Amino acid sequence: MIKAVIFDLDGVIVSTDEFHYQAWKLMADQECIPFYKTINHRLRGVSRMESLTIILEKAHQSYSEEEKVKLAEFKNQAYVKSLSSLDETHILPGVLQVLSKLKKMGVKVAIGSSSKNAQFILKQIKLFDAFDAIADGHDIIHSKPAPDIFLVAATKLGVEDHACLVVEDAVAGIIAAKRAGMFAFAVGDARKSVEADYKADDIKELIEVVKNSR
Ligand code: BG6
Ligand code: MG
Repeated sequence: MIKAVIFDLDGVIVSTDEFHYQAWKLMADQECIPFYKTINHRLRGVSRMESLTIILEKAHQSYSEEEKVKLAEFKNQAYVKSLSSLDETHILPGVLQVLSKLKKMGVKVAIGSSSKNAQFILKQIKLFDAFDAIADGHDIIHSKPAPDIFLVAATKLGVEDHACLVVEDAVAGIIAAKRAGMFAFAVGDARKSVEADYKADDIKELIEVVKNSR
C-alpha cells in the first residue's frame, strides 16, 4: 500500500532544466568548454559539483578544487538570478490536480530534490506549504543515484520506505528510488529507465497507481 508520494522537483513539479542549461552554458562559454543539450541531460538529478565534473570532461585544461568551487558559484549565481522570473505559471501540467487529489485521499506528499535551491523554487512557484516534508540538497552528501535523499524524505514524513512512491524525470532518480526500496514512477526522460515500476506520459496516471495499491 502506497502511503506517501515523494516528488522530484526539477522536471517533475517545475521545468527548471532550461534555467540550469543557460546558467551552465554561460560558465562553459566563458571557459571555452563545449557544452550542449545532450550533456545537459546527464546533469538531471545529480548535484551541482557532480554536474560540473561532467561538464569539465570536455575542458581543455585542468582546474584546482578552488577554481571548481568558483565555477560552480558563478553558475549558481546566474541560475538563481534567472529564477527570479519563475512563478506559478511554470508549474508543470497536472501537478496541482495530483497534489489536490492525493491530499483528499490522505496520502502524504514530499519533495526529494538534489537542489540546494529547492526551497527558494517552491516559494517562487507558491508551493512551499503544499508538502508535508521537504528533503533537499542541504540534507545529503551523496546525491542521486544514491538513495539518501528519498530515505531522508521518508524519515521526515514518518512513512516506511516500502510504502513510498517516487516520481522522477531522471534515470539517476529512478535508480535512487529503487535503491531506497521504493516504488518508482517515471515521467519524461526517466521513461527510458529499465528499473521504473511505472512509466507515464501524464503525471495524473499516478492517482490510479496509488488507488490500485490500496
Ligand atoms: C537537481 C537538478 O534537481 O538539482 C540537477 O536536476 C542539479 O540538474 C541539482 O544539478 C543541483 O541543483 P542546485 O540548485 O543545488 O545547483
Ligand atoms: Mg528532475
